[in-house]
Amino acid sequence: MSIIYDNNTKSFHLTAKNTSYILQIHEDGYLLHLYFGRKLRNFNCNSLLSLKERCSFSPNPDPCNYMLSLDTLPQEYPSYGTSDFRTPAYSIQLENGTTITDLRYESHKIIDGKPKLENLPATYVEDDAEAQTLEIVMSDSLIGLKVILSYTAYENYDAISRNVKFINSGNEDLKLLRALSMSIDFNNSDYDFLHLHGAWARERHIERTPLIIGTQSVESRRGSSSHNQNPFIALLSHDANEEYGDVYGFNLVYSGNFLAQAEVDQYKTTRVSLGINPFDFSWLLKPNENFQTPEVVMVYSSNGLGEMSRTYHKLYRNRLCRGTHRDKTRPILVNNWEATYFDFNAEKIESIGKTAKELGIELFVLDDGWFGKRDSDNCSLGDWVVDAKKLPNGLNDLAERINNLDLQFGLWFEPEMVSPDSDLYRSHPDWCLHVPGRSRTQGRNQLVLDLSRKEVCDYIVNSLSAILSSVNISYVKWDMNRNMTEIGSPCLPPERQRETAHRYMLGLYNIYEKLTTTFPNILFEGCSGGGGRFDAGILYYMPQIWTSDDTDAVERLKIQYGTSIVYPISTMGSHVSAIPNHQVHRKTSLKMRGDVAMSGNFGYELDLTKFTDEEKEAVKKQIKSYKALRELIQFGDMYRLLNPFDGHEASWIIVSEDKLEAFATYFRVLSTPNEPIRKLYLRGLDPDKNYSITGLDGAFGGDELMYSGITIPDLEGDYQSITWTLKAN
Ligand code: DGJ
Repeated sequence: MSIIYDNNTKSFHLTAKNTSYILQIHEDGYLLHLYFGRKLRNFNCNSLLSLKERCSFSPNPDPCNYMLSLDTLPQEYPSYGTSDFRTPAYSIQLENGTTITDLRYESHKIIDGKPKLENLPATYVEDDAEAQTLEIVMSDSLIGLKVILSYTAYENYDAISRNVKFINSGNEDLKLLRALSMSIDFNNSDYDFLHLHGAWARERHIERTPLIIGTQSVESRRGSSSHNQNPFIALLSHDANEEYGDVYGFNLVYSGNFLAQAEVDQYKTTRVSLGINPFDFSWLLKPNENFQTPEVVMVYSSNGLGEMSRTYHKLYRNRLCRGTHRDKTRPILVNNWEATYFDFNAEKIESIGKTAKELGIELFVLDDGWFGKRDSDNCSLGDWVVDAKKLPNGLNDLAERINNLDLQFGLWFEPEMVSPDSDLYRSHPDWCLHVPGRSRTQGRNQLVLDLSRKEVCDYIVNSLSAILSSVNISYVKWDMNRNMTEIGSPCLPPERQRETAHRYMLGLYNIYEKLTTTFPNILFEGCSGGGGRFDAGILYYMPQIWTSDDTDAVERLKIQYGTSIVYPISTMGSHVSAIPNHQVHRKTSLKMRGDVAMSGNFGYELDLTKFTDEEKEAVKKQIKSYKALRELIQFGDMYRLLNPFDGHEASWIIVSEDKLEAFATYFRVLSTPNEPIRKLYLRGLDPDKNYSITGLDGAFGGDELMYSGITIPDLEGDYQSITWTLKAN
């Protein structure tokens, strides 16, 4: 049993694999948070919650109880206005304009398994024995509001997921102004705050700073989870590193605007909140309507950041990603974007395909430029009809030519967009997000389609389905190349305009659901100008995402290392591209580009026909070794060894679950003169097993490799890399 209710203390004890999470119903019906951390056998609620008389500036909702103020109680889903002055989890405006609500415990139930979320991505179980779910109904009887707080505790993962459902069972309209997915109060602030930030072409860099009094937050107002901040934050004990210390991770399973924050109050308690960004958001709940928040996945690790990441990786690989490709190794692809940009024809594509086959590549992806009159990025988005000038014999002919080379054929789409210069826009100028009378701000010469409208979503599903069902397509790259502006929809009444951004996400998820279930054999890869929407919401529908438009091997060390804090290697697209690199103009060796790209879903993004014979031989070897290793790389456990944000080196090792195989990498960006002899301490191996290592004589004990280390050989020059393949004897 992973969830126990103790009627004497009115408390709930949720246990995930090695984690306890404890809640208590206060005698006045408030829901209190008592504990989140290392698994406890038993708990004494009285000692866990210590009340203290504070002062008149923390008011008392019960005049007879001066010890009680919501301002000082650790709460589970706090409101504002009835004595708690910290960040509320939700806020509702009533018809009389006021925003005071008062939630008290009404009932609860514990069920086996995990119910699906309505129209939203979420982690799941395949068997009810894998988890239990607690649903606590909180209510405000004055207005007929019910709020269901759901918690799922996983038996085999140190993860607890949460979501919230608002139900208007009263008679008046309620306007949600804020509806976060979670709030949790820690009783101290002795933590660091870690998050992932960046920009286009340098996504998910790691930032770690000690918590300070006040609020630290990350958010997106861009209409997507964004290149700039990721819907993930973690609290770490100050001494925590990859292997030691307490780490609490919080990740929102959502691809739109979000807010994630930690607020340290006057008593140095810390409130963590996460959910849809309340900025420019509201949602009208008419009587009998409900609102479902996205899910948050909370992961606790008592063994540092590395273990937290591995928990997310396993859970997301097995119980967030879905479909035919979830457990399958992913094909090695070549994508023509950086090879040709918009300038190609069938013959050019076929010539790249021929070389791809010769080298051992398995999938050819035709990127942007195959439709409408798309010779540049200033037209044709929305017109999903083949460009007869470039491909006079059509897509089917090209797919056949590629298939005849014994390669799978993949195709790029950017379905959420419309170019002002397109037949679609000329026929439906009102189908984009816009505000009447205002100009329509363009990004990359394009506008965003209004996915809050059913007819727009239907158009996308129908036009893509027509192609996917008539051409032999094995893979789709789903791109999205701008953020939203003038967020409004002419179809929504004034009081619902601020629902547009979330309705867009619901429309998008609905499209994904339809297309991925209608075409279950197609491998979908998410993309948003690279990694502008690399989040758990997308992964529910698409098991892999293009990690970044930046394929420079040096920058990719940081991007892939940062992304791995939450997201598994099997979700990261990573390709070898040409030098000088098109984003940073750096020249790195083919070996290093290959070694970096191997820690992901491997591919090439350059004109293969321009390789010299020598390069072709090297690439054949890269492909051969990736094929031999990909099951391990894509589905093994990752241990980060050296952090590229700390200096000029990076390293990690991927170990199979049974610890019989491992793949270790070491990268050195810049050489230093007269370097000392250096050792690399491997992790994750079985100390009792002996391993043979490619290129090294004899066997090495797992204990030796982890505790005494492996010597890093002398390397000459900048941009160097080494990989080792380990096999237990
Ligand atoms: C942005 C993507 O990230 C690139 O890989 C490429 O597909 C371009 N869009 C095409 O316009």
